[in-house]
Amino acid sequence: MEAGKPVDSEKKHRLMVQQAYPATLDTPESEASSFVAGTVSQYACQRRTTLNNCNKKFTDAFEILAENYEFRENEVPCLAFMRAASVLKCLPFTIVRMGDLEGLPCLGGEIRNVIEEITEEGESSRAKDVLTDERYQSFKLFISVFGVGLKTSEKWYRMGFRILEEVKADKTLKLSRMQKAGFLYYEDLVSGVSKAEADAVSLIVKDAVRTFLPDALVTITGGFRRGKKIGHDVDFLITSPGLRQEEEVLHKVIDLWKKQGLLLYYDLVESTLEQAKLPSRKVDAFDHFQKCFAILKLHQQRVDTRSCDTSKESDKAEVKDWKAIRVDLVVSPFEQYAYALLGWTGSRQFERDLRRYATHERKMMLDNHALYDKTKRIFLKAKSEEEIFAHLGLDYLEPWERNA
Ligand code: CTP
Ligand code: MN
Ligand code: MN
Repeated sequence: MEAGKPVDSEKKHRLMVQQAYPATLDTPESEASSFVAGTVSQYACQRRTTLNNCNKKFTDAFEILAENYEFRENEVPCLAFMRAASVLKCLPFTIVRMGDLEGLPCLGGEIRNVIEEITEEGESSRAKDVLTDERYQSFKLFISVFGVGLKTSEKWYRMGFRILEEVKADKTLKLSRMQKAGFLYYEDLVSGVSKAEADAVSLIVKDAVRTFLPDALVTITGGFRRGKKIGHDVDFLITSPGLRQEEEVLHKVIDLWKKQGLLLYYDLVESTLEQAKLPSRKVDAFDHFQKCFAILKLHQQRVDTRSCDTSKESDKAEVKDWKAIRVDLVVSPFEQYAYALLGWTGSRQFERDLRRYATHERKMMLDNHALYDKTKRIFLKAKSEEEIFAHLGLDYLEPWERNA
């Protein structure tokens, strides 16, 4: 009435015709009609989840609610909302009414109420409340700094800080080396990494590694391997069929980058493989590989941005011509490469469910190093991810189908 015209016709205003799936579906007929809700597994490793999310309206709300529970260290509902989001992400259709949920796992109780409200009102009032919550907003800001996790956020919040400027202004505060770097390169790091930047970093990493290990295998893992167009960092897995010479390569690469002035920050963690025993029982456990969490200086001309303006580079001496990029480097022994690759490709939800599946459905223990069959009491060797899926009795999922 205010606008003096009828409102746009939205899905929620329409009476749905009794059919299997809404006509607005953008997936091919065959895919939708072959979809049977009752066959959706509770395990993400048995669901093909691409980046094509038809239920973003729901999953965004779930992820906000899950994160709020995480900030309050309330693990059970946090995991429940993350699992629910993950289930909706694999659906080839958009949820429009409650009947669409029939047969789907992990969508009970509280979660149903949130879905119901979104189907009726178009949004979740609970998620909206969280977004305006003071604690949630502050924690969001604090954890956006590299090196700041829940513990530090909690501390800063209890000290009365609410925004980053207040934290920065307190000169008595003891910041870790990581957090100092986090503040120093904040704008660059918070802006995210594009695919083009990831490719440019990839060339730098491959160049450096192969200077010292010509036959090294350098593979991009994490979100970019799953086909994401943007990430918070670039993850690499390094290995070589050679005899344990991979141990030195990370030190050499770091020295080289230091000399070239490319290393803005690094934290080298030595391998603890010697101490490692059976695959870890923990679902979110750290692994034992040698690794380096770094911030690299990426010069802008190394990124193919398809711009022609490279003319007066020397005149713009004052212009910052580089961007700080978070890079994770992991070195694995050749025999463990397939397990390391599977573990570092993610997503986190996919990894969690893969381990949960191995434990509860196969009586096996899986981590980033190995797969142990508790019944046969043997370690199962694998040269490829395909072989690991086969050991677990799972259909193979391509990396881009692991965006659970
Ligand atoms: N990982 C791990 N051990 C760690 C850190 C990460 O096994 N200590 C694995 C996780 O399973 C994760 C993957 O490595 O799926 C990549 O981690 P991360 O870079 O944090 O996540 P991405 O999926 O790459 O997402 P983003 O685009 O935000 O970087
Ligand atoms: Mn990543
Ligand atoms: Mn990472």
